[in-house]
Amino acid sequence: MDSLLFTPIELRGIRLKNRIVLSPMLTYSCVDGNLSDWHLVHLGKYAAGGTGLVFMESTKVDPRGCTTPADPGLWDDRFIAPMRRITAFIKQFGAVPGIQLSHSGRKSRHARPWEGRGPLDIVPDLPGGGPWELVAPSAVPHEPDHPVPSALTREGIRELVQAWGKAAVRADKAGFEVVEIHAAHGYLIHQFLSPAANRREDEYGGSLENRMRFAVEVATETRRCWPEHKPLFMRISAIDSAGWEIEHSVELAKRLKAVGVDVVDCSSGGLADMNHVAGTSGATGYGYGYQVPHAERIRREADVMTMAVGHIVHADQAEAILRDGRADLVAIGREMLHNPNWPIDAAQKLGVKPGFDQIPSAYGYWLEKRARARVAVQPSTWRAGIDAPGERRPSR
Ligand SMILES: Cc1cc2nc3c(=O)[nH]c(=O)nc-3n(C[C@H](O)[C@H](O)[C@H](O)COP(=O)(O)O)c2cc1C
Repeated sequence: MDSLLFTPIELRGIRLKNRIVLSPMLTYSCVDGNLSDWHLVHLGKYAAGGTGLVFMESTKVDPRGCTTPADPGLWDDRFIAPMRRITAFIKQFGAVPGIQLSHSGRKSRHARPWEGRGPLDIVPDLPGGGPWELVAPSAVPHEPDHPVPSALTREGIRELVQAWGKAAVRADKAGFEVVEIHAAHGYLIHQFLSPAANRREDEYGGSLENRMRFAVEVATETRRCWPEHKPLFMRISAIDSAGWEIEHSVELAKRLKAVGVDVVDCSSGGLADMNHVAGTSGATGYGYGYQVPHAERIRREADVMTMAVGHIVHADQAEAILRDGRADLVAIGREMLHNPNWPIDAAQKLGVKPGFDQIPSAYGYWLEKRARARVAVQPSTWRAGIDAPGERRPSR
């Protein structure tokens, strides 16, 4: 079959061998911002499983912006060398290494999700040392009972814009080929965008134009510091249940495109609640592809490439999203945790031949032989796809 999912795509000077992306996912496993062999194995296995673009988890441009004390850092040159080892490993399998650059603002200094996620009762030192101060656009806490952050001064804002640029320079030295700026999920850039979190009365607050200023400045500075031939993505919360609507995202996407953002990665939520982010809500639940309509609308109305994410699980579902022109790339999060070999599984289900050339020969040679055997043996992951009996249809 002729598959769009497995058709390579050129983004500036970088070629992805397919349109499957490992969505950035924090593993909260660093000490003082440092990576370990965990990250080599964790990220390496998606590259070896055939993923085209492998995103390193949300990595902080400033230690104050760590969501937890176990987030990775890129605020210092000392982080470059250990990352180089990981990017080289990923590239060895024909995958492209990407990194998400982030600052959590008032949502920093929290416990890990499986430890309750809330603000830490005992304030630890900053990763790397020193007192850990919370900063945000305004002195407004994330929840009424959360700590109140300090409102950033204009000088503080300027330093943070530059911090993204400096981190991009380090990311380039570390061998990453794609940078994604994290402007979603209620973190610092989203806090600036939001009228609920941003009560500033200067040029960074008030009107939509003013609230978008920080996001656009970060994108502009990152683009300036990031090599011309390397693509730049920005993840946004397309809607957030707190006053930010899809029309605002379309306006933002137009401005981001104008300053050199190549792909808008369309997530949602995180400002008022975390349910949208991963599509988990006891009350209503979120169906397959619940954020795809945002990627579709932003793509159409802002005329920019988009990446869809959120409950994209099945091969035929991912293929249809691309074929129907709803997004240019599909990012897969938890289903990759479930099956890091998702791309080769998808290739078989879509009938892409040979398919196993997406992975190292040490695996591919044997799996292809088995797949061609006269007596058919189906892999343990075998299902017909989203239209198989008992599957729920994707929400549109
Ligand atoms: C364990 C975990 C960690 C995550 N960490 C990040 C992150 O670092 N940056 C980010 O933008 N989104 C993060 N997310 C959101 C995912 O990237 C993705 O957008 C979300 O899980 C929906 O996609 P899925 O249904 O394919 O998992 C995380 C999600 C999970 C489950």
